[in-house]
Amino acid sequence: MSEPIVLGIETSCDETAIGIVRGRTLLANVIASSVDEHARFGGVVPEIASRAHLEAMLPSIEKAIKDSKISLKDIDAVAVTAGPGLVGALLVGVASASGLALGLGKPLYGVNHLAAHVSVDFLTHDQPTDPTIALLVSGGHSSLLQVDDITSSITKLGATMDDAAGEAFDKIARVMGLGFPGGPAIDRTAQSGSPTAIDFPRGLTTSNDWATRPYDFSFSGLKTAVARYLESTPDYAKADVAASFQESIVDVLLQKSLAACKATGIDSLVIAGGVAANSRLRAAAEERCAKAGVRLRIPSPALCTDNGAMVAALGSLMVAAGRAPGPQAFDADSALQVERVAL
Ligand code: KG4
Ligand code: ZN
Repeated sequence: MSEPIVLGIETSCDETAIGIVRGRTLLANVIASSVDEHARFGGVVPEIASRAHLEAMLPSIEKAIKDSKISLKDIDAVAVTAGPGLVGALLVGVASASGLALGLGKPLYGVNHLAAHVSVDFLTHDQPTDPTIALLVSGGHSSLLQVDDITSSITKLGATMDDAAGEAFDKIARVMGLGFPGGPAIDRTAQSGSPTAIDFPRGLTTSNDWATRPYDFSFSGLKTAVARYLESTPDYAKADVAASFQESIVDVLLQKSLAACKATGIDSLVIAGGVAANSRLRAAAEERCAKAGVRLRIPSPALCTDNGAMVAALGSLMVAAGRAPGPQAFDADSALQVERVAL
């Protein structure tokens, strides 16, 4: 039998995203974003996101089918983000996927958004990804994971105690007037700044922190330090603040990721989630992993932020591993824990 074709649906936040893969080959990756509709509110408005998903769903599925040059009946399985995310937004995806799978008479996999972020790396790098340490950094989550089997065994080593890394980027960008989403804006602004211009704090890196919570993150102290700096320095150089702030986050993320590799003896690191698109994080990770003898994989920037290919990729890996599909209809779980790879 030729490799299975899996269609993946992602609607956990403001992207209506459809991906289609054949085995590990990406056939289509369609993303309709409602980000412009949220920009003036400075963050995603759940009600607007749900409505936008409803409008974008059918055209996006049709475009993905067309892009991949297959027909609907060629699909062997449907995968959908079951959580975590905005519940109203998730429900649009789950209901659509459930209807599609029922109509086609094909199995349905309800998968975890966070595991999907990590699994998309399988489309970029053909080497098996597990076991690996995974740094997952997005707008809603920041955690350090030990992935023994991406389809069934993920252990959380640590997580953020306050803001997610992407959230910190978004909030600082807002106070600097750089717009939403803030990550790409800070990344761009930092290009012409100095990462050592301002010595911002590194969260949870005292010797006591290393002893008690080595793999947890905290960005609230950094956020306060930047806000205070901006207040006390009216003529601040935007590029230097952006670069120095970004450097603090990147430094802590990589220190902790490499410490996890060392402690577990796993010499492989995957960096995933929207913040993994950050150019400084990518460059610094490459440098430090090479030095530490750790094999680094980061998906291409377009596959780091929310997309449907990652959901299709995880669905495809579930099929390949012989995992049983979930029920044909289920509730979205807005607080789905990362350890639960699929329903
Ligand atoms: O994974 P994602 O697309 O959505 C969530 O599941 O949250 O991540 C979105 C987050 C946002 O906070 C955004 O500002 C951040 O990823 N982000 C970046 C970059 N591109 C997106 N952060 C830093 N640098 C970037 N280039
Ligand atoms: Zn995400």
